[in-house]
Amino acid sequence: MINLGVNIDHIATLRQARGTTYPDPVDAVSICLDAGAGSITAHLREDRRHIQDRDIERLAAIPGLHLNMEMGANEEIVAICERLRPAACCLVPEKREELTTEGGLDVAAHRSRLADVVARLSAAGVRVSMFIDPLPAQIEASKAIGAPVIELHTGHYANFQGAQQAAELAALQAGARLAGEIGLMVHAGHGLTIENCPVICAIAEIEELNIGHAIIADAVFKGLHRAVADFKAVMVR
Ligand code: PXP
Repeated sequence: MINLGVNIDHIATLRQARGTTYPDPVDAVSICLDAGAGSITAHLREDRRHIQDRDIERLAAIPGLHLNMEMGANEEIVAICERLRPAACCLVPEKREELTTEGGLDVAAHRSRLADVVARLSAAGVRVSMFIDPLPAQIEASKAIGAPVIELHTGHYANFQGAQQAAELAALQAGARLAGEIGLMVHAGHGLTIENCPVICAIAEIEELNIGHAIIADAVFKGLHRAVADFKAVMVR
């Protein structure tokens, strides 16, 4: 069954907006798992705009939690991931001025640097995923540098409309097929909502969706448990 990974960054965003101790993203873990999530995703950004070091340390210490640490490939963060050894990580591009992760990682252009990071994190027992646009060159480069997983960037699909959206969906479908054929595990995420995620779930190769903003937004009105359970229900359907 397709896995739902809940990204809890924006619980920390709300806390950081006031510099308070609440809401605590760690408190979300048991609610999300109880409502049908299989994993928890948190992004320790270089600028620490939401998740803080203490958050990721406490998340990594939860027994049995499948923690997916989203991260840039910079040395400081890689060293933290090596030390904490979460079950999984997802390497993303990071720019300080961006609102959120804006595009996929250019694996093809940074092969040797990323191959080194994949090797180090794999040696620490972390399952490494590359967050990429659905382009054959990026999928093949991810395989070539030894990453076992790719996460296809669905943000453009989510933002486009009409013919552009149909073209992006076709690229996601073809990318997932190619990745499956060459033995990569396929995840997807970014910009997914309760309305657009069923189409992505219908892509046979996709085994996991990572969803954050829309779940936390829905939770404002219906509570976190119900927001997670509603996403899981449309994914299973
Ligand atoms: N996957 C990756 C790699 C991301 O960078 C993000 C955003 O942090 C997500 C999934 C979740 O995106 P959203 O918050 O739009 O659901």
